[in-house]
Amino acid sequence: MSLTLKNMSIKAGKELKITGVPKPDALSFSVNIGHGEDNIALHFNPRFNYQGDNNVIVFNSRHGGSWSEERRENHFPFEQGEEFKVTISFNNEEFRVKLPDGNMLYFPNRFGDDKYMYIQVEGDARVTGFKLK
Ligand code: GAL
Repeated sequence: MSLTLKNMSIKAGKELKITGVPKPDALSFSVNIGHGEDNIALHFNPRFNYQGDNNVIVFNSRHGGSWSEERRENHFPFEQGEEFKVTISFNNEEFRVKLPDGNMLYFPNRFGDDKYMYIQVEGDARVTGFKLK
């Protein structure tokens, strides 16, 4: 499934809480925040089993349609079929992603912007809750 918001701005200092449930046979899902599908400041991509990756979180950004340099995280507190909650916030320098187990991960804000107007959740997860405050 895919949830795309194109007119809701997310600003530095705000918190986005997303609750969702990966499909029982989920391969991967992503949360993308940026300016559009070709310009993504945060690509947060838990991979259960995708492109040879098992239980890895891939982070990246996308600039003019091209993926940049990935960062990978092996700490993986997600389970197929089990509800999760992630909380995302950012400033000019970095994104902070709070994982379901409370661990915090950081990814550089390579665009450096303090406002984004494109938020997307896509792949093998159903969004059950979405809160921006
Ligand atoms: C690609 C994958 C994209 C995205 C990207 C991140 O291999 O097809 O969906 O996850 O990696 O670097």
